[in-house]
Amino acid sequence: MRDKDFNILSDFNKKEIGGTFSQKLLSNAQNEKDYVPALRSNHAALYRTLLYAFKPKKILEAGTLFGYSSILAAEILGDIHANDFRIDTVEIDPANAETALNNIRDSGFSKNIRVIEGDACEVFSCLEGPYDLVFLDCSKSSYNTMLVDVKRLLRPGGLLLADDVIYHGKLEGEESLIPHKHRTIVNSLTEFLTRVSEDENFAAFIDSMDDGMLVAVKK
Ligand SMILES: C[S@@+](CC[C@H](N)C(=O)[O-])C[C@H]1O[C@@H](n2cnc3c(N)ncnc32)[C@H](O)[C@@H]1O
Repeated sequence: MRDKDFNILSDFNKKEIGGTFSQKLLSNAQNEKDYVPALRSNHAALYRTLLYAFKPKKILEAGTLFGYSSILAAEILGDIHANDFRIDTVEIDPANAETALNNIRDSGFSKNIRVIEGDACEVFSCLEGPYDLVFLDCSKSSYNTMLVDVKRLLRPGGLLLADDVIYHGKLEGEESLIPHKHRTIVNSLTEFLTRVSEDENFAAFIDSMDDGMLVAVKK
């Protein structure tokens, strides 16, 4: 029997996911601001599903914000691996990095999550892998710059996720119709996606919910 208040397709990805700490963190942020650029429920549900499937022990993330996606991942990996996992997350904004550190301390995952303050393009070039999963969720113009290091840092069989690659639908259509201020990002994202799609070492697809998520496996 169908519940009149529940639409299985539109509500499927909206149910509470992850542990309660990450959900409370997100709800508090959403109560304070109209727009919070944290992982949206559709992609949080996709991320959770992929984490349970791939069971990564070492994650590298670009774009920490206040720590929601790192803590969400830690709650899931804690469920799978107990304490035996590590997340490195890079944040360019010092105020965000400090807020994230406080939230991570309060979540109890300080030993598992390391916040690295800096530009992910520079930080990635200094890191050593291998990582099981790399999640890009920072400035969209950085993805293309980071791709060489992402490939170097990912282990064979590792997963690359890149959020918001559809960029408000601006990657398709005539270039002259794209507002000038968006063209650099559109061109950079287009090059990033083209390189991934033409790279024989990646098997990839783009999930087109919301602003899109690239899901790619390094073969
Ligand atoms: C979309 S938010 C990240 C959301 C977060 N992953 C979550 O779901 O909770 C993007 C974050 O990336 C940071 N950022 C932007 N460009 C960056 C860069 N080049 N390196 C590191 N962080 C960057 C921004 O300051 C912002 O906090």
